[in-house]
Amino acid sequence: MKHKRKLVFICNGSDCKKSGAKKLYKELKGATDEPSLRGSCKFIKTKCMDMCKTAPNIIVGDHFCKKTSVEKVLTEIKKS
Ligand code: FES
Repeated sequence: MKHKRKLVFICNGSDCKKSGAKKLYKELKGATDEPSLRGSCKFIKTKCMDMCKTAPNIIVGDHFCKKTSVEKVLTEIKKS
């Protein structure tokens, strides 16, 4: 059985934080609180993923989002 809820891993290392990971997290939290997306994902903060050159890094399900933005992550979350 496949889980409907996607896991979203947000890097919380220093380079990603400098590149706006915190702001990205807050914006994503707000965006996924909309009725259409509520309960569709679970956010997990991680330590450095060792990919600092492409900060901010976020993993959505099995997709690695480099130098990512809210729009890119939301697109990945909406994909079934
Ligand atoms: S700080 Fe995010 S990958 Fe290193």
